[in-house]
Amino acid sequence: MERTLIILKPDAVQRRLVGEVIGRFERKGLRIAAMKLMKISAETAATHYADHKGKPFYDSLVGFMTSEPVVAMVLEGHKAIEVCRKLMGATFGFAAEPGTIRGDFGISNQFNLVHGSDSADAAKREIEIFFAEGGVIDYSVADDAWNAAD
Ligand code: RTP
Ligand code: MG
Repeated sequence: MERTLIILKPDAVQRRLVGEVIGRFERKGLRIAAMKLMKISAETAATHYADHKGKPFYDSLVGFMTSEPVVAMVLEGHKAIEVCRKLMGATFGFAAEPGTIRGDFGISNQFNLVHGSDSADAAKREIEIFFAEGGVIDYSVADDAWNAAD
């Protein structure tokens, strides 16, 4: 079992796509381990996107992510990081394949609906940033054993 940090970005909330996007993750087989509606502070955004500091799009990205509320969540499941990145699709909406979240709901570079951790190290780091106060709940769902089996 693996955990990943997913953020439904401000455009997903503004466009009332929260249910649609969470539904896709749920239907695939991910379990919600933590979830909250929040406004990201400038400090949290800077920590989260530290790897991108200095890049041309950095200020605009931080401005966007702190502009309006987001839904931050921890999803857990078999190969959760890779599975979520596949469900999300390529970074830019215009390039993302139809059938993916970014491919089905947007065409923009920045307004791309969803963030997902891109490695195990990133997932650990990002979950600690967004759920520093706790709130990640351990429980099992009925099909855990099916999904873990070879
Ligand atoms: P995210 O971190 O948001 O899940 O997106 P990602 O892994 O698919 O893409 P990443 O390379 O981490 O970039 C983070 C966000 O920065 C914006 N970006 N703009 N103009 C550009 O070249 C450029 N590159 C990245 C995107 O909004 C991307 O989601
Ligand atoms: Mg990224």
